[in-house]
Amino acid sequence: LHSTDGALAVTLNAAARQVTLAGRSVRALTYNDGVPGPTLRLRAGDALGVSLRNDLTDPSNLHVHGLHVSPEGNGDNMFVTVPGGDSFDYRYELPANHPPGVYWYHPHHHGLVADQVFGGLYGAIVVEDPIPIPASRDRLLVISDITVDSTGAPAAARATEKMSGREGALVLINGQLGPTMTARPGERERWRIVNACVSRYLRLRLDGHELALLGLDSGRFASARPVTEIVLAPGNRADLLVTVTGGDAALRALNYDRGTAGGMMGGGISPAGGDMSLATFRVAGETVAAAAAVPAQPTPRDLRTATVTARRELVFSMGMGGMGGAMMAPTINGRAFDAARIDETVQLGSVEDWLLTNTSTLDHPLHLHVWPMQIVEEGGQPVDTVIWQDVVNIPARSTTRVRIAFSDFSGRTVYHCHILDHEDAGMMGVVEAR
Ligand code: C2O
Ligand code: CU
Ligand code: CU
Repeated sequence: LHSTDGALAVTLNAAARQVTLAGRSVRALTYNDGVPGPTLRLRAGDALGVSLRNDLTDPSNLHVHGLHVSPEGNGDNMFVTVPGGDSFDYRYELPANHPPGVYWYHPHHHGLVADQVFGGLYGAIVVEDPIPIPASRDRLLVISDITVDSTGAPAAARATEKMSGREGALVLINGQLGPTMTARPGERERWRIVNACVSRYLRLRLDGHELALLGLDSGRFASARPVTEIVLAPGNRADLLVTVTGGDAALRALNYDRGTAGGMMGGGISPAGGDMSLATFRVAGETVAAAAAVPAQPTPRDLRTATVTARRELVFSMGMGGMGGAMMAPTINGRAFDAARIDETVQLGSVEDWLLTNTSTLDHPLHLHVWPMQIVEEGGQPVDTVIWQDVVNIPARSTTRVRIAFSDFSGRTVYHCHILDHEDAGMMGVVEAR
């Protein structure tokens, strides 16, 4: 992908194709004929050109989730519409200090996002480490879910599923159902995990092995944190070190209770059924010598001690609206998304404090484009460590307080619930930095 002058160019062709998913032939939505689409590997300072060719029958577009790129021009832009049959050229310029990590891309055409992601349109972006982290093996795990109907097409969501957020019956890793990963004893592996599910939270465990979290989203801990499980809301990513200290194990997704939509139509979540095994981790072969120490990572700026210039409150609710009050209407501050309205105007160069209040009985994962956030309080309690994230969870009937440094890039973009059915239903606002 890299040319000699450091500029990269890639074509992504969005099209419905017959592919093998979970061992069966599915008419999925694909980028370049695959699910997931190709992985884009970048470095800080790179300029990336993406030519999106939309061969779908519906409009689409492209969003680079989590990348810190300008919202001006067409850089981080969900306001662009690429009609079926058309092409569009995007250009992204990563700043020289862009954080390393795992990011991803997906369509963002309002009203069709959940259907297109559920259908198969997503891929990973890796921004390489400036100083390599010693690992004997790198794995990229793009985790997604899908339900296939009797005709072999991605299933349409029922009204109740749109309310609570659809969860697919099949949970796939890189398009495969229950793959086997083989490792040698003593190895240190690097797992980059993307939660590309439309609505499903992933509470992941790999018992018997040592797990240490290097970071989440664009954030890094100063030193990797030992963990026994990780929870990824839709859109979140994990950068995980797995040291092979045990034997064969299952990578499992444990049940995560994200509440129920309730409401007059009785739209509860019907989880696919508690714990499930996503992959088999097989340990075989000769023992590998321990990998070299992980270099210390820069300590992130701590916004808890920053001077705050503005405070805002965003209230997430699922109040009744539409159809004479019979439908649930996901809103932020009582309003549904309007691309022509600017909901929040922020001052470039400032640090803001946003109190996120969830009045509903379902969790909502808030995603802000362009500028990462730090959670400083959860349920009114201060956190003990801060990390840069672009999706933060707001648990049902609770609050999460974040701080955001609008330190660079002016322009207009969005924040929204990353349960993509909620986003499509209007749980999204517009922010402009000037
Ligand atoms: Cu991953 Cu605005 O989205
Ligand atoms: Cu995004
Ligand atoms: Cu939501």
